[in-house]
Amino acid sequence: MILVVYPSAELEAWVRNQLLSKEEPSLSEESRPMIPNKAVTVEAYCSTANLGAGFDVFGLALNKYADRVQVRTANTRNVRIKALGPYGRELPRAPDKNSAGPPARALLDRSGLNMGVEITIEKNIPPGLGLGSSGATAAACTKAMNHLLRLDLSNDELVNTASLGEAASSGSAHTDNVGASLLGGFVIAYGNPLRAVSVKPPPKLSVVVVSPKTRLPKNKTSLARRLVPQKISVKEAVLNIGRASAIALGFANGDIDLIGSGMEDAIAEPRRERLVPGYKMVKKAALTAHVSGVAISGAGPSVVAFVDKTKQDPKKIGRVMVKEFSKNQVESTFFVAKPAGGAHIIRSN
Ligand code: HSE
Repeated sequence: MILVVYPSAELEAWVRNQLLSKEEPSLSEESRPMIPNKAVTVEAYCSTANLGAGFDVFGLALNKYADRVQVRTANTRNVRIKALGPYGRELPRAPDKNSAGPPARALLDRSGLNMGVEITIEKNIPPGLGLGSSGATAAACTKAMNHLLRLDLSNDELVNTASLGEAASSGSAHTDNVGASLLGGFVIAYGNPLRAVSVKPPPKLSVVVVSPKTRLPKNKTSLARRLVPQKISVKEAVLNIGRASAIALGFANGDIDLIGSGMEDAIAEPRRERLVPGYKMVKKAALTAHVSGVAISGAGPSVVAFVDKTKQDPKKIGRVMVKEFSKNQVESTFFVAKPAGGAHIIRSN
C-alpha cells in the first residue's frame, strides 16, 4: 500500500481544508458507519529524541509517563477531540492543532469509510518538557485508528502517519518521537521513503531525566527547530555520522558506554543549548560523575543522562545534576526512567 507523504506547506493547507469545516454533517441512514459503535483505547509512552547525534532520527521510549487515547466511531464525518487527565486542559481541541487530529483524518480518508471519530485523550505526559508528549498522543491515536478501521498498516506507515500529528503541533513532521512511542525501545526512523526499526535497549540502561523549570514559549519546538541550520559543514556531518553510528552499534551490542560516547551533537545542540540555561555545566557535572552520555532531550528543556545502573546510582546522578542547575540559579526536578515498550491496545470493544 502507498502512503502519501505531504510536504509541509501542502500538508498544512490540506489539514486546514480537511479539518476546519465547521458544519457537522450527520450521516444518512444508508451511509451509517460500517464499523458501528466500536471503541479502541491505546496507551503510548513518552520518549526522548535525538540522543545527541541522532537529530530527528533516534528516539527512545521511556516508562515514566504514558498517554491513553480512545477512538470511537461517530455518526458524523468529523474528527472531534476531548481531553482529560492531569494535562488535558493544556491541549488544543481543534483537530488541526491537536496531534491526534491529522493522523485520524488521514486514516479515515484512507479507509474510504463514511464515518467520523470521537477521540478522547487522557493526557498524562507533561507537555513542553521535551519528552515527546505530542508524539505519544499521535502514536496512540494512529495505532488505535489502525485497529478501529482494520487497516493493517506496516510499522513504517504507522510512524509516517503519526508524524502528521507532529506537523500539526510543531510545524514539522519529524518521526523520532512518534517512532519511539509506537514501536518502543530504541528506534531509528530514517530515509525517504521512511523506514523505522527498533531494538530492545540493554536492561542495565537507566535514563536520568532532569527538567529545569525554565519558561519556554508555547511554540517551543518550532522555535528550537528554527535554530537548527539548514546547511552544515562536511566536518559537522562527519562528526555526527560517526557518533550516531556508535549509538546504534551500542544499542545493538548492549554497550552503554559506546552509546554514551556518541551522545555529542555538532548540529542542533550547539545552536540550542542557550535555551537550557546551565546546560553546559550540568553536562560537565554529570560526565564528571561518570555517566555514559548526556544530551538535551528532544527540543528541550529536559536533559537526559544515560547510566549503567550496575555501575552508577542513577538517583545520585539526578541529585548531582539538579544541584548543578541550582548553582546556575535554575530550579529543576529529576526522575529515573527505564526504556519502555511500544504503543499497545488496552481495550477494544
Ligand atoms: N527531533 C525533534 C527536535 C524532537 O529535536 O526538534 C522534538 O520533539
